[in-house]
Amino acid sequence: MTVKEYRVNLIEQLSSIYPKTEIDSFFFILMEEYLSLKRIDITLHPDYEIKNTHISTLNTALKRLKNQEPIQYIIGNTEFYGYPFLVDENTLIPRPETEELVEWILEETKKLQSIKGSIPLHILDIGTGTGCIPIALAKNLPTATVFAIDISADALKIAKKNADINTVKITFLQTDILKVNSLDEVLKQLQQNEINFDIIVSNPPYVRELEKAEIQPNVLQNEPHLALFVPDENPLLFYDKIADLAKENLTENGLLFFEINQYLGNETLTMLKEKGFKNIELRKDLFKNDRMIKVQ
Ligand SMILES: C[S@@+](CC[C@H](N)C(=O)[O-])C[C@H]1O[C@@H](n2cnc3c(N)ncnc32)[C@H](O)[C@@H]1O
Repeated sequence: MTVKEYRVNLIEQLSSIYPKTEIDSFFFILMEEYLSLKRIDITLHPDYEIKNTHISTLNTALKRLKNQEPIQYIIGNTEFYGYPFLVDENTLIPRPETEELVEWILEETKKLQSIKGSIPLHILDIGTGTGCIPIALAKNLPTATVFAIDISADALKIAKKNADINTVKITFLQTDILKVNSLDEVLKQLQQNEINFDIIVSNPPYVRELEKAEIQPNVLQNEPHLALFVPDENPLLFYDKIADLAKENLTENGLLFFEINQYLGNETLTMLKEKGFKNIELRKDLFKNDRMIKVQ
């Protein structure tokens, strides 16, 4: 079968499930991943013959696409902030909104660095998943000392591989953040003395059970529920806990960043105000939803 024929076949098989633009995007991703063919190669050589060994891999991918599995899980990787990341069923697929959060943090760290001079910044990410946030930060802040926590040992395995692939040093730690009394207690496990962080960031689970109906079936069926859901009666439990922990371990000019539930922007702001944080800023994402908060 030629690549041109394969594209027609893919459109025929998937058009009842996905729009054509999305099927085309799957086609190019699969060609690059399994055949190392870029868009330009396909345009120039539409009659390139696909080997039988590749056909069987492509058929497996097609079966999984028919089951509405995200393409990132099928090929086992994605891109975040321009860097390659492995993903699997234990990790959330990093989202573009989170790239916006990273961008914001990097803007703010420039100001912090001008205050701190040559003293390295200390950064902590809570609920790291693939490690996308701390790894993107470490790539752009090579002198920073970066820590990352997750409850899931399986997610941390992927995050560690991602740090290696991206050649950055991150200290990872498996901890249930809801069960710790202080960040110092967590750091003791690493034989680290007290550390005051310049940046603490978290994109914790924030989807309420009542919002399940709004979630795309492919997310609901494939992404880890541990990474997504919080109880309806206490949707800010991670924010509340992390804010309390951060208050004790942020430097004087230190900043706490959160990715938030778009429907709970005001509630999250109020909670942070009541805890005494200042310079509170709420920002919208690309889609104009309340999505991230910075506090000092
Ligand atoms: C929304 S995901 C965010 C993943 C990643 N930071 C990102 O932005 O793509 C939340 C992460 O928090 C982790 N998590 C859930 N409960 C936790 C807990 N009690 N303590 C620490 N991490 C937790 C999940 O395993 C998951 O990786």
